Amino acid sequence: MSKSAELARLVRDRAGSEPPAYGLVLGSGLGHLGGMVEGVAIPYADLDGFPHAGVSGHVPQLYLGQLEGRRVAVFGGRSHYYETGRPDAMRLPLELLAELGCDRLILTNAAGSLREDIPPGELMLLSDHIAFAGTNPLIGERDERRFVPLTDAHDPGIRADLRAAAAAEGVALPEGVYAWFSGPSFETPAEIRAARVLGADAVGMSTVPEIILGRFLGLRCAAVSVITNMGAGLSTERISHDHTKQMAPIGAEKLERVLRRFLRD
Ligand code: HPA
Repeated sequence: MSKSAELARLVRDRAGSEPPAYGLVLGSGLGHLGGMVEGVAIPYADLDGFPHAGVSGHVPQLYLGQLEGRRVAVFGGRSHYYETGRPDAMRLPLELLAELGCDRLILTNAAGSLREDIPPGELMLLSDHIAFAGTNPLIGERDERRFVPLTDAHDPGIRADLRAAAAAEGVALPEGVYAWFSGPSFETPAEIRAARVLGADAVGMSTVPEIILGRFLGLRCAAVSVITNMGAGLSTERISHDHTKQMAPIGAEKLERVLRRFLRD
């Protein structure tokens, strides 16, 4: 039996076998959103092979249950490329999600903005991405499905529903392009200017490998950034992980409203 099939059996034993309608991955400072789920929380430590989610601001638990009347699977923490040097660090959790019969994935993250009109505290819906980190989570994969098309990697239908939910909540949800930098160092001002010229609207250290893996696994994907700061050199504020964690809850409150409305409608 594959690893993900073994884990799926454990999860079904504890949380029931109804397939989740959505998988959600929570970003830095957004881990508490897992508490929204009415159901079962399974520590990653019980899920053999799961990342240890060693970044502060993440809660390493998988929540399975109901949220606004929908069955969801919420990953309270993620592993990043910069923790392990492995861009496929989230592969097993996403394989588990697919194994549970889920086919839709929503990712969230904290990000730096490159746009004056999307300041800290605001949300940005990813319309597309740039894999600036220069690697790919499918390197080494043998299956021919590795040549995964990414033209509509950010699912137009889910995005339209997220925009409608945001509008109904009175929350601004501009769309933009997210550039994935490896981290863990923040970008230099020159890198931020380069990313801007190349068409990025926000920068961050996650999400893109998960979108690629998600598409590989046949999941329809979308992602929302909580903007915690302006990119390096674009403002006088100091950029730090502490600042990210401090700022994330401001956008998280809006994100929670949008996600609840999205699931309800
Ligand atoms: N750069 C990269 N990742 C981030 C940032 C940033 O400015 N802010 C939050 N996550």
